[in-house]
Amino acid sequence: ETTLGAAAAQSGRYFGTAISAGKLGESAYTTIANREFNMVTPENEMKIDATEPNRGQFSFTNADRIYNWAVQNGKRVRGHTLAWHSQQPGWMQSLSGSTLRQAMIDHINGVMAHYKGNIYAWDVVNEAYADSGGGRRDSNLQRTGNDWIEVAFRTARTADPAAKLCYNDYNIDNWTWDKTQGVYNMVRDFKSRGVPIDCVGLQAHFNSGSPYNSNFRTTISSFAALGVDVQITELDIQGASATTYANVVNDCLAVARCNGITTWGVRDSDSWRSGDTPLLFDGNGNKKPAYTSVLAALNSV
Ligand code: G3I
Repeated sequence: ETTLGAAAAQSGRYFGTAISAGKLGESAYTTIANREFNMVTPENEMKIDATEPNRGQFSFTNADRIYNWAVQNGKRVRGHTLAWHSQQPGWMQSLSGSTLRQAMIDHINGVMAHYKGNIYAWDVVNEAYADSGGGRRDSNLQRTGNDWIEVAFRTARTADPAAKLCYNDYNIDNWTWDKTQGVYNMVRDFKSRGVPIDCVGLQAHFNSGSPYNSNFRTTISSFAALGVDVQITELDIQGASATTYANVVNDCLAVARCNGITTWGVRDSDSWRSGDTPLLFDGNGNKKPAYTSVLAALNSV
């Protein structure tokens, strides 16, 4: 196959990208995005501040732009994200306790109702674990009670039973890290108690501080063994080593339940990591060596 999406589809997987609504008018951008990818994650447009700017007043203009572009071009959509300590609108930042808990529930219900039956997977909860120590991150949501994550997942299951429900985080790719073990234990606990969770998103933002480690495959297979799908949800690699990109893809391909990979942007110029060149296409839209190695890995199955 000659595109990432088609090559991934040979083994029943998808290959996706983050998309920005503001770039959908740029043909250089949409040409590559449409040709290469078959899954789309809105980079910012489905976040809490974007979709509920005022309490109880939902806004889907930019999210729908991306959703409609994706569906018109035959792509599926990953929803990102319903409950997160960051990118909360001002009104939510100032809430606490049972009021905030109810606002979180109302938010999940409001956004999921709009897209009911139409989203492949939702990142229901994003980045709820602390960077060190293996425990929860302190946040206004965490201070509503330790059960906020399972409440979010139970709410989401009822709101849209067709969507796969994911927990998504960064720095949970290295099996030896406390944070990885903390999330692993949460997922194991959820599965054992019947809390609805279908997938774990490994963001995979690799850089010198949190580099790719060859135990990534162990992490993927260990989560999968709990009975969840694993998706690489926000892949980018500082410097875009072709070898490292191929390693990541091969690690996913080695685990049956690792069913999709998404890069966090199309071209280097679209990356949130300004000054870095972590993606598969350069700023002129040319395929980089990492693109070639990823495509070859996908085609080797
Ligand atoms: O849209 C406004 C614009 O109107 C304003 O003039 C400008 C001035 O600062 O800001 C623009 O918003 C920015 C937005 O990106 C759109 O470009 C925000 O400031 C900026 O904070 C926001 O950054 C996003 C970041 O999440 C925020 O947390 C990045 O684009 C996005 O790539 C990044 O994505 C996250 C994932 O959601 C979760 N995992 C980590 C990942 C990378 O940080």
